[in-house]
Amino acid sequence: MTDFKTLYEARKTTAQELAARVEDGWLIGMDAAAAQTPAIISAIAERAGQDQLRGVKVQTLLDVYPLEFYADKSLYGKMTGYSWFSSAGARSAINSGFADFIPAYYRDIPKYIRTCYDYDAFCVSVSPMDKHGYFSLATASSYSEAMIDKAKRIFIEVNVNQPRAVCGSRLHISQVDGLIENNIELPVLPPVKLDEVSVTIGGLIAEQIPDGACIQLGIGAIPDATGMALKTKKDLGIHTEMFTDSMVELIECGAVNNSRKQIHRGQSVTTFAFGSKRIYDFIDDNPAIALLPVDYVNNPEVICKNDNMISINAALEVDLWGQVCAESVGTKHMSGSGGQIDYVRGACQSKGGKSFIAFSSTAKGGTISKIKPILTPGAVCTTSKNDVDYIVTEYGLAHLRGCSLGERAKRLIAIAHPDFRDELSFEAKKRGILV
Ligand code: COA
Repeated sequence: MTDFKTLYEARKTTAQELAARVEDGWLIGMDAAAAQTPAIISAIAERAGQDQLRGVKVQTLLDVYPLEFYADKSLYGKMTGYSWFSSAGARSAINSGFADFIPAYYRDIPKYIRTCYDYDAFCVSVSPMDKHGYFSLATASSYSEAMIDKAKRIFIEVNVNQPRAVCGSRLHISQVDGLIENNIELPVLPPVKLDEVSVTIGGLIAEQIPDGACIQLGIGAIPDATGMALKTKKDLGIHTEMFTDSMVELIECGAVNNSRKQIHRGQSVTTFAFGSKRIYDFIDDNPAIALLPVDYVNNPEVICKNDNMISINAALEVDLWGQVCAESVGTKHMSGSGGQIDYVRGACQSKGGKSFIAFSSTAKGGTISKIKPILTPGAVCTTSKNDVDYIVTEYGLAHLRGCSLGERAKRLIAIAHPDFRDELSFEAKKRGILV
C-alpha cells in the first residue's frame, strides 16, 4: 500500500509539466467521451498555440469536451485531430478541412491501434487509485487496453468523480508515466427531447420486442424513445455499445434484469457509458454492469450468442434497395459507422433476433424525404442491402430482409411520408424497380 502511494506521489505533476514533455510529431491517443483528459490536452494545445509544437496528432472517438484542436483552425498542422467516429467538435472541424476522419468499424479499432500506429502517449481519465494500486478506466473500456499495450507513455487525469467499474478495464500505477489530479464534473449528454415522431416510432418497435429479449440501443432520440417504450416489458437483457440513461431507467424500473441472457447472465454488457450523472452513479462499484473491450462486445459472433437479440439504430437516409446511410448528408461528414453494422449482423444471426433502423420519415421541417430513390450522391452506405432487416418510420415498419428489390421499394414507399409517396413510386418505375 505504502509503495503504491509513494509511486503515486512520485508520478504526480501538473498538466503543464506533462505538456512540456510532448515533442514535435507525437501521436497521442484518447478513448471515448468521459475518458478523455481535457486539462492535459488544453496544456498541450497552449504550447501548440504558442508555436512551441508542430505535427502533434491526437486521435479521439466521441469528443465531448470542447477540444482546442477541433475548435481552433489555427492549430492545424501544430496539433491536429483525427476522429474514429465523430461528435459536434470533430464533425465541424472535419467538414471545415482542419481535422481528419479514420473510417473503421468500432470493433476493429483495437486491432488498428495494435498494428497500424505507434503512440507516443495515451491520455486517459480514471477513478482514484485503489489499495492495490489500480485505477478503474471507469466509463470506457472500448480500445483503452490496446492503447495501454501499445503507447510508449501513459498520462492520466485522476478524477474523484469517475466511477469505479468493478467489471471493467484497469490500469496499474506502475504503468503510469505521469498523473495529475483533476476533479472536474464529468461531461453529460443533454437530455434528448422525445418528440411525437420518436415516441410513435419507439412504440412501433416496442411492439416487436418480446419479454426476455436482449437489447442494443444506438445513439439518438429514437433509440432513447424506444428504451422508454420498453418499461412495461419483463426480463430484458442489455448487450450494447454505449450504455445510456434510458438503460438505467429500464434497470431501475425492473424491465431489465438480464435473467434470460445466454452470456453474461445477470449483467448488462457495454463498451462505454455516456449520459447523465445518474449513469456514472449507477456504474460505481456495481458488479451488475460489465464494461468490456469493444473488439469483444461489438463482435457479431458474441452479440448473436444471446437469443432474441434486438438492435435499434438511427440513420439519415435509405434508398429503395434498403441501403442505409447513417454517416453523411451527401458528402458532408456527420458520423462514423460505430457499431451499427455489427449489431445489425449480430442481431440477425441471433435466434429470434431482429434489427431495426429507425428515423423520422422527413428532415428539415418536412421538406426532405429520408426514404430516397437513390442515396444522395456522395452518401456513405453504412448498412448494406444484404444486411438490412427492418426499416421503421412513424408510418410503420418495412421488413426488407430476403425481399426482392421490387418488394423492398413497395414496402419502403408505404412507410414514407405521404407527401413523397407518389414521387417515390414514379422514380421507382422510372428505374424499373417497380412496374
Ligand atoms: N438530409 C439532410 N439532412 C438530414 C437528413 C437528410 N436525410 N437526415 C438528418 N438530417 C439532419 C437533421 O436535420 C439534423 O440537422 P440539425 O443538426 O441541423 O438539426 C442532423 O442531420 C442530425 O439528424 P438527426 O436525425 O437529429 O440525427 P440523430 O441525432 O438522431 O443521429 C445518426 C443520427 C445517424 C447521425 C446517429 O445515429 C449516428 O451517429 N449513427 C452512427 C452509426 C450508428 O448507428 N452507430 C450505432 C451504435 S451506437
